[in-house]
Amino acid sequence: MQLTIRRPDDWHLHLRDGAMLERVAPYTARQFKRAIIMPNLSPPVTTAQAARDYKSRIMAALPEGSDFEPLMTAYLTDETLPEQIATGHADGSWVAAKLYPAGATTNSALGVTDIANIRAVLAEMEKIGMVLCVHGEVTDPAIDVFDREAVFIDKVLIPTLADFPGLKVVFEHITTKDGVDFVMAAGENVAATVTPQHLMLNRNALFESGLRPHAYCLPVVKREEHRLAVREAATSGNPKFFLGTDSAPHPMSGKVSDCGCAGIFNAPYALEAYAQVFEEEGVLDRLEGFASEHGPAFYDLPLNEGTVTLSRAPTLVEDVIGEGADALTPFLAGQTLGWHFTE
Ligand code: DOR
Ligand code: ZN
Repeated sequence: MQLTIRRPDDWHLHLRDGAMLERVAPYTARQFKRAIIMPNLSPPVTTAQAARDYKSRIMAALPEGSDFEPLMTAYLTDETLPEQIATGHADGSWVAAKLYPAGATTNSALGVTDIANIRAVLAEMEKIGMVLCVHGEVTDPAIDVFDREAVFIDKVLIPTLADFPGLKVVFEHITTKDGVDFVMAAGENVAATVTPQHLMLNRNALFESGLRPHAYCLPVVKREEHRLAVREAATSGNPKFFLGTDSAPHPMSGKVSDCGCAGIFNAPYALEAYAQVFEEEGVLDRLEGFASEHGPAFYDLPLNEGTVTLSRAPTLVEDVIGEGADALTPFLAGQTLGWHFTE
């Protein structure tokens, strides 16, 4: 059995830089035509020039003949100016801007400390129809880590959309029923991306027979009831939900340590993982919408030409990619997926 769909895109991806970029970019370029590239480098991508330079480095890291297209984003800080964001949008340097609440996750220290500090930027983005990608978690250490997404909705997202009702928002990597309910109730200008890990894991995965660093990402995986709600939304055919892997590689030395980094490297078998979820839900016919159609529609970009094909055949995910301190553990390491990507 084979499944052929229009070439898909990844609407949330970390490609890193330097040697790591060269290692991981080919995996995404093999499966996806385009991806929204997260700007949380060190230092972050805050200027249009930095975005253009980073895009050139990504292009240089692609396998020969690849037609993969990186869609760049701006990293918002307390100092970002509206005209800077608008100019970079108008000249094609970036397609979206990313809101990291300061301290919420990897390389977010220079993010936004208070949404009030970027009001003028949000007003400009609303005016020009530019997408705001949001890491939706509050950073208050007094809030339970499993509640940070739900609290962010009440404290930040709802008031922000009340002030800027036309702002296009992608609520990235949603993990909760609260997130699903919020997106469904919001206007057409609000959508969400969904990762493979939040479709496949609940929070028990973090502690299965021991502490599991390779199941740790942010927002952290939640209770089973939340996974089921996210799964139902992603596989429902609702165009507000689309594919965004949040593939976030960290070397073994960063993941397996006294203070392990957040991030799951799922790029190598991303489509196989999503296909498995849609098959389990009995809606393989909806994978194409989720992977290839809903994202472009929301971002006002053309649908891709061409197709990719998945075969109903086992794929064994390797335990590890590379060696030693630099080794990468892929999502679902050691497991067998039911689908095989053949191009
Ligand atoms: O798990 C995560 N890893 N979540 C994020 O928000 C950032 C990402 C990273 O860059 O490592
Ligand atoms: Zn991310």
